[in-house]
Amino acid sequence: MTTGAVPSVEPPGAAAHAIEVARGQPTGDGVVARPPYLGREELDALFSVEEFEPLAAARMHPTTYQYIRGWAGTGWTAAENMRAFQRWVFRPRFMRDVTHLDTSTTVLGETVAAPILFAPTSVHKLAHPHGEAATAGAARALDIVQVLSTGSSTSLEDIAGIGPKRWFQLYWYTDRGLTRELVERAVAAGFTALVLTVDAPVIGWRETERRTAMVKPDDATAVLLPEDLSGVAQATDLTWESLEWLRSVSPLPLVLKGIGRSDDARLAAAHGADALIVSNHGGRQLDGGIATLDALPGVAAAVEGLHGAGGRPLEVYMDGGVRRGTDVVKALALGARAVLIGRPVQWGLATGGEAGVLRMLELIFGEFRSAMGLCGATRPSEITRAMVTRNPEPTAPRV
Ligand code: FNR
Repeated sequence: MTTGAVPSVEPPGAAAHAIEVARGQPTGDGVVARPPYLGREELDALFSVEEFEPLAAARMHPTTYQYIRGWAGTGWTAAENMRAFQRWVFRPRFMRDVTHLDTSTTVLGETVAAPILFAPTSVHKLAHPHGEAATAGAARALDIVQVLSTGSSTSLEDIAGIGPKRWFQLYWYTDRGLTRELVERAVAAGFTALVLTVDAPVIGWRETERRTAMVKPDDATAVLLPEDLSGVAQATDLTWESLEWLRSVSPLPLVLKGIGRSDDARLAAAHGADALIVSNHGGRQLDGGIATLDALPGVAAAVEGLHGAGGRPLEVYMDGGVRRGTDVVKALALGARAVLIGRPVQWGLATGGEAGVLRMLELIFGEFRSAMGLCGATRPSEITRAMVTRNPEPTAPRV
């Protein structure tokens, strides 16, 4: 195992980061705690996503847990993402026939069992030795899309053999050859959409990561990138015009992740995006940034009636702070077609590998189905803006 010490200050002009976890130099050894994972029976005794976090923390080295939990700056935006859900309450409708509840929907034309995707998060082998393969297994069992990170610790080709519904998240490097190769591998491995992350041209100010070196298992590395990361740097000079090149080398639908403003949303549409993800990287980039749920309605309204390059109506998804099925209903009511889930996937992995991710999502899924029916909707498309209103007591904490 290695310790990745993060330099206290980014070198001047350093081109952002190769991938989040790969920064820094190995400096020594540490102990990676991995007490036994929970089995199916023990997992079935968990009934909320919140229960997973402490169980996961107990099974990871504290520095790894901190990395996954981490945020930029004071952590205000990371917390605000979750608080934003408390600012909305339901206005349920009753006396409607909810005998047949169907949670399925489509994302970019692909049918999925629920409007929930696995967000791209790097190096799943930090949480469990089976890494992204375990996540892919859970996505297959649940019939949802896994978005594989450029920082994956499992190869694109290995995932292709497991998860039938898979999109690839791209970080764009100064080396266009490397960027193009990643795209080509994703296409060859049957990934059906490209998710370009636009909110990380500069690395966020992550104080915890700077303070504490991460201790990680030896196999927890970003295998899609060259072993020698010294020449690998993210492009910092991307503009809307750059998308033309990407679209010329990729036949896949293009999803832009990290959009939070209506003007950017319209520009994204004008430059060939097929879908947008309202995201702030889980509060890991710009501290003080708007909560994603607060940004969502403006973005959704801005692209209403617009179409993506592929000809379909432009779709809007969101992520950040989704922990409950009720959160999913609120996001859909405020304009999202689907949500993505980040940290809880890592908690599920660390708690019980594939079965842990499966259980974690079954809980969100189950509560989503229940809340949808209680709001008077039998399917995601019936969830409307009228089903939520601003919370008259916005500071009320969760019980
Ligand atoms: C991320 N995220 C992320 N995003 C991305 O586009 N590429 C990546 O490689 C990563 N890596 C990553 C690692 C870890 C440990 C975390 C927690 C997050 C951001 C991720 O896709 C998503 O936007 C947030 O995680 C959503 O917020 P929640 O669900 O974690 O609150």
